[in-house]
Amino acid sequence: MASGELALILLAAGEGTRMRSQLPKVLHPVCGRPILLHAVRLGREIGAKRIVVVVGRGEDRVRDALAGEEVELVRQEQQLGTGHAALRAAELLGDHAGPILVTNGDHPLYRPQTFAALLDAYRAESADLALLTAHSPEPEGYGRVVRDSDGKPERIVEETEAQNEIRAISEVNLGAYVAEAELLFHSLAQIGNKNRKGEFYLTDLLELVAESGRRVASFAVEDWNEALGVNTRADLAKAEAAMRERIAERWMREGVTLIDPGQTYIEIDVEIGADTVISPGVMLRGATRVGSGCRIDAGSVIEDSTLGDGVWIKSHCSIEQSEIGSDCEVGPSAHLRPDSQLSDGVRVGNFVEIKNSRLGRGTKADHLSYIGDATVGSGVTIGCGAITVNYDGREKYRTTIGDGAFVGCNANLIAPVEVAAEAYVAAGSTITNRVPEGSLAVARARQRNIEGWRKRRFGSNED
Ligand code: UD1
Ligand code: CA
Repeated sequence: MASGELALILLAAGEGTRMRSQLPKVLHPVCGRPILLHAVRLGREIGAKRIVVVVGRGEDRVRDALAGEEVELVRQEQQLGTGHAALRAAELLGDHAGPILVTNGDHPLYRPQTFAALLDAYRAESADLALLTAHSPEPEGYGRVVRDSDGKPERIVEETEAQNEIRAISEVNLGAYVAEAELLFHSLAQIGNKNRKGEFYLTDLLELVAESGRRVASFAVEDWNEALGVNTRADLAKAEAAMRERIAERWMREGVTLIDPGQTYIEIDVEIGADTVISPGVMLRGATRVGSGCRIDAGSVIEDSTLGDGVWIKSHCSIEQSEIGSDCEVGPSAHLRPDSQLSDGVRVGNFVEIKNSRLGRGTKADHLSYIGDATVGSGVTIGCGAITVNYDGREKYRTTIGDGAFVGCNANLIAPVEVAAEAYVAAGSTITNRVPEGSLAVARARQRNIEGWRKRRFGSNED
């Protein structure tokens, strides 16, 4: 009976050649989270007390991506194969008392129940080694599991090494193994590299252990969709689709309406309140939080932003790192850039861009405005085409607009400037000085009509 704490070794040093990418394979995101981070979080969920990540290719970027995670890193200088990579962890886990789960860092879709079941099989059968497999309708590319006449797993044959009758086996190896430190590292040290690729295959572990008469248990994943290892961009798209479906199902269970779940892109860390209705083509990214009873129309992209309740985001808005209070209306085609804060009941209409600005309760900017670096009070009306002129080519300056002010159409507010509470700015004005409370500022040339001009210019028979 195995006792002691669980440790996890994640293999993440590989070349990832088949991705043809500058980015290390394990850092490609699946629904907004790098593949490797999916594996680390899973490790936490199954109660791994220590997580050792084997890094190599793109080590610095992998290290950065893991900042903030409680993991230990070990380097594999040369990528000599999965067996060689796993052995690198001996340095940290050689004396570990308790089961060690070794798994590939390129499987983003595992569920915690699956690893729990693998560990159960390991314990229940007092096994020396437990192996995770899948009966796959598409075994191509995976190692095949060969069983002996009693049905016990005997060896794993990599596809590159396999003859046709072995290729016909549909049970595949998923690259997840459980054993105790002594047996694991002792066996790994014996693995050779006499194979087509000249690599140290971790898969040889099974044959070494089985041969020596030890007990081997296995568990086959129930849902084949969990088994996917990402080697190519096509695998990445499959993983994304599978994870997307899971996330969509979760939110529908929680009371969110997705008009077309297959066309709704909700990343893994997003949260959504009940009775929110989301249209096709919407992308909710990063740490976005959407309240309840919201409506998000087609094609809007919202990243790292918070929405209160009852918010209506109309079609084709782009919203980044912003906060939107309850009962706001935004869009269609509005752009909220980082640090935009809309208080409750704000209305932002079409072709309005807001950046690093705060709009008070019930303020309206319905059409074609730019509001940048501004503090706008409550109940303010920003007319069509009004603009904060916040940049002189070198520095950015702030604009302040007091409660209940009215900024007429096509006004330019040249910052730094203040329009005090209840003040009016006449349409077409270019404001460079403070507008006092309750006053009207008119800053434009007075209209002059030149009577009879057309006739004088073109004569009477011009057409
Ligand atoms: C491996 C298994 C295969 C299994 C499949 C499941 C071996 C030899 N084969 O194949 O039986 O069906 O996983 O997905 O193990 N890595 C290193 N250092 C290395 C090489 C790889 O850390 O030197 C890491 C990679 O970053 C990756 C993992 O190990 O996360 C698996 O390597 P990969 O090359 O993807 O193995 P597969 O060919 O998929
Ligand atoms: Ca792989």
